[in-house]
Amino acid sequence: MSRVAVGVVALGCLVVPVAQSQPGGKANPRPEPVAETKLLMEGLAGANLRGLGKLLRDKPADAEAWAFARGQALLLAETGNLLLVRPPRTGTGQEAWLGHAADLREAGSALARAAAAKDYQKARAGLAGVANVCNRCHQAFRVPARVDPFAGD
Ligand code: HEC
Repeated sequence: MSRVAVGVVALGCLVVPVAQSQPGGKANPRPEPVAETKLLMEGLAGANLRGLGKLLRDKPADAEAWAFARGQALLLAETGNLLLVRPPRTGTGQEAWLGHAADLREAGSALARAAAAKDYQKARAGLAGVANVCNRCHQAFRVPARVDPFAGD
């Protein structure tokens, strides 16, 4: 008898009150651009690409440096996500923009994997691959900026 009673009590605990209101008061929030694209280019894309250029000029000496490189690569990949919500509002460039943004996410992720594996050759090639994505998008959208992470070599 007492076993049945315990079971009933336990079931009663499963009835959890469902929250009625959304935090922030907005239903189904979606990502939306806040900063200007130019700011992302300077503060995220440019800064992390330069940092990686310095870090990978020579083979990173220790696990800490590799971990830092991995983090910077992931920030570049994440920048791809941020660019996905910033396609040009007009014109025919939207699809191309989304393609370049997704390429940045992929190239940054590949570089992060090479850094996690502490594979110097792959990491150098991965960084060159990321820079190609940057420059392809700039060319497509007639942005004069040309990036070269190994310019200081
Ligand atoms: C999806 C397209 C796209 C990709 C990918 C992209 N950029 Fe850009 N970039 C732009 C556009 C558009 C501008 C011009 C922004 C403006 O001036 O409003 C720009 C401008 C810049 C500038 C100049 C900012 C200034 O001060 O005028 C730098 C530096 C830059 N990008 C770096 C990078 C780097 C580094 C990467 C790759 C890691 C990258 N970009 C990838 C579209 C892209």
